[in-house]
Amino acid sequence: MPKALITGITGQDGSYLAEFLLDQGYEVVGMVRRTSTVNFDRIRQFQDRIAVVQGDLLDQVSLINILHEHRPQEVYNLAAQSFVPTSFEQPVLTGEFTALGVTRMLDAIRTVDRSIRFYQASSSEMFGKVHEVPQRETTPFHPRSPYGVAKVYGHWITINYRESYDLFACSGILFNHESPRRGLEFVTRKITHTVARIKLGLAEELRLGNLDARRDWGFAPDYVRGMWRMLQHDRPDDYVIATGETHSVREFCQEAFGHAGLDWEKHVVADPRYFRPAEVDLLVGDAGKAARVLGWKPAVTFRDLVRIMVDADLAALRQGGDHTPRVG
Ligand code: NAP
Ligand code: GDD
Repeated sequence: MPKALITGITGQDGSYLAEFLLDQGYEVVGMVRRTSTVNFDRIRQFQDRIAVVQGDLLDQVSLINILHEHRPQEVYNLAAQSFVPTSFEQPVLTGEFTALGVTRMLDAIRTVDRSIRFYQASSSEMFGKVHEVPQRETTPFHPRSPYGVAKVYGHWITINYRESYDLFACSGILFNHESPRRGLEFVTRKITHTVARIKLGLAEELRLGNLDARRDWGFAPDYVRGMWRMLQHDRPDDYVIATGETHSVREFCQEAFGHAGLDWEKHVVADPRYFRPAEVDLLVGDAGKAARVLGWKPAVTFRDLVRIMVDADLAALRQGGDHTPRVG
């Protein structure tokens, strides 16, 4: 039975990846950091089928110990401070988690077992102020936030360890991907959750920032398949994973409110608090290489994604009242 270690297993992607790997017959080890109350909402449904171990990307000893003790063949490094606005408020901490955390894990692998295959969760935020449309593996980076800068570091240190120590290390440049398990602060989930609250008479308005920003939004379960495929290939490489379609935040609102039978213009309020010091205006990816080499393609369209998310938020609120719904 192959064994995989997932950092960030309590996050959106970690939970879907763990389910996917369990279905493939993997033994899954999930690394979680110590908190005063547990935050296992996204992994509760399969928690008894995985090993949960404590570790932190800030603490290299914990990473080395986990690798020694559990001996995974694959490591998926999904843990990060992943929210762009927080990276402007906590730029140093974001660098510690999201940039140097990658080096700590790579060096733990180099020390313990160089045969481990490594996946790094890189991001389309690295393209930032884009130099070409659509963006592909060869497009130059121009990050626009401390988060984006940290991800560029993570991307290059992954390549550096591959070239220096012959590690099987891959960097997946994933464009935005969403689901009912997306954190409530990210724009898609903020929209679908508030649409559901408005529909049920629990809220009146939705306060948003830049409605003109465009993103290439896919469905998270499709994207975790791409991560796995990278590590099954016969040589390590870097891949863009994206749908190839771009939509504005405004279009996402139109679709989400429309699906619930609501008029978005009656409810959406512009709020300068949600604008960023520097914005990424347009992202759209070319996943041609992943299609050719890995046979990867997304299954869920933009329209279906919005509907899945709105329906899930409506169902969760109807079931649980006006609490923050259980994710997933
Ligand atoms: P997420 O929901 O924010 O999850 C982040 C995970 O990282 C959580 O499990 C969090 O644990 C963990 N974490 C944070 N700091 C840590 C630390 N110091 N030590 C150990 N664990 C730590 O993010 P996601 O959307 O699943 O994304 C997964 C990865 O892909 C991230 O690296 C993100 O930057 C990257 N990415 C995401 C997207 C996207 O659109 N979703 C696109 C490109 C790249 P807690 O539960 O304790 O907070
Ligand atoms: N969060 C948020 N909240 N974003 C808003 C709002 C709002 O109220 N109003 C407008 N936006 C705009 C943001 O300015 C941005 O242009 C866009 O919506 C998407 O914002 P997020 O959903 O926060 O995602 P992101 O694109 O900044 O970052 C996500 O995708 C990256 C991949 O490109 C995160 O998942 C990153 O971790 C990931 O790397």
